[in-house]
Amino acid sequence: MSAPKKLFIKTYGCQMNVYDSERMAEALGGKGYVETKTPEDADMILLNTCHIREKAAEKVYSELGRMKPLKAENPNLKIGIAGCVAQAEGEEIMRRAPMVDLVVGPQSYHRLPAMDDAVQTGAKALDTDFPDDDKFDTLKARSKAKRGPTAFLTVQEGCDKFCAFCVVPYTRGAEVSRASDRIIREAQELVASGVREITLLGQNVNAYHGHAGGLAGLIWDLDKVDGLERIRFTTSHPNDMDDALIDAHGTCEKLMPYLHLPVQSGSDRILKAMNRKHTAESYLRLIERIRAARPDLLLSGDFIVGFPGETDEDFEDTMQLVRDVHYGQAYSFKYSTRPGTPAAEKPQLPEDVMNERLQRLQGLLREQQQATQASMIGREVNVLFEKSGREAGQMIGKSEYLHAVFAEAPLDVIGTVRKVKIVDDAANSLKGELL
Ligand code: 5AD
Ligand code: SF4
Repeated sequence: MSAPKKLFIKTYGCQMNVYDSERMAEALGGKGYVETKTPEDADMILLNTCHIREKAAEKVYSELGRMKPLKAENPNLKIGIAGCVAQAEGEEIMRRAPMVDLVVGPQSYHRLPAMDDAVQTGAKALDTDFPDDDKFDTLKARSKAKRGPTAFLTVQEGCDKFCAFCVVPYTRGAEVSRASDRIIREAQELVASGVREITLLGQNVNAYHGHAGGLAGLIWDLDKVDGLERIRFTTSHPNDMDDALIDAHGTCEKLMPYLHLPVQSGSDRILKAMNRKHTAESYLRLIERIRAARPDLLLSGDFIVGFPGETDEDFEDTMQLVRDVHYGQAYSFKYSTRPGTPAAEKPQLPEDVMNERLQRLQGLLREQQQATQASMIGREVNVLFEKSGREAGQMIGKSEYLHAVFAEAPLDVIGTVRKVKIVDDAANSLKGELL
């Protein structure tokens, strides 16, 4: 028997890419590929790329540059580009980087096995279709191999919202929801492999409509899956937070008290220019309702500073909204022009203005994050332990609020949820004692 072929995947960007990389590895696993952690001994290298902000494509080309010697050493090495840069710039990549053998978009990767056949004959393969066949129908059941206690599960892809800054509706296409029975089956497969916590993924996950009861309906069905202990979901749009979903945050025990709910800006003028279709006020009212359902919920968000036309006053509105909401953690970005999006046509703000605003916003968000972490000291939380820590005898996991927690504990806590008392606050994690 010949040695198995080795596959190296490098994943950029969001959690959905992490999920896609797993599925691509499983699809190629059916053709005898096993994963390797070192590109040097790979027979195929896949870069699963992200296009959300600037310099995405440039990053891919420089990574390819670094991989040139590998191709020189092993002429049989195949190199593929997957993900959103592949979708957006597939043909351009083939032209600019002749070392690339294969380009596959996020909606076509179920065709990877056939594409592999083609590249093994020395041909090039490019597929950036939005095919009629559903990739999830073609992909096999999840691998039965034992895995860690947390997993992602894509339930919805694409977006119909068309925020003026965003490439997602172009790279991932129109909103598509997977049927809930398939999702439940995949969840059961994951649980059988050792998974205890599932994070449901979608670019606009709360617009999920593969279940008559929407995302809340799916969550309640997952609630019945034996052995599954925790459910999370990301990323949501404020306008799709329906009553049933808000209610589930108060009544579904498996649904964790953490919500990532991007607002992007606190200025109504900018929100309108962004085509967000909500106001700062409607967002604040929504947060009130969610907190009424689940008072201890930890809120996370996304912000963009320096959107075209943003004045000092607009930016102060964002700062004020952050003060009003008080986030447990959040992501913030400088606006970055994405070719093909409506905002790309507008005059851009000077870089120094954007830098200054980003620093101030990040300062405030950091304060709130630290205050939230510090407020955990003395509290009892539930930790799903995931792995051993750096120091002997130390185990690491996540609390229900998604804080990383480390504690002295025996190895067999891994994969279980344990009560832990938080005793100290480290930089990016909390120290706890097993109860
Ligand atoms: N520039 C800066 N940030 C962006 N995001 C999306 N598009 C852009 C852009 N063109 C941010 C948004 C989104 C997150 C995933 O990335 O905040 O919620
Ligand atoms: Fe992009 Fe999210 Fe807006 Fe959709 S809702 S266009 S994914 S920022």
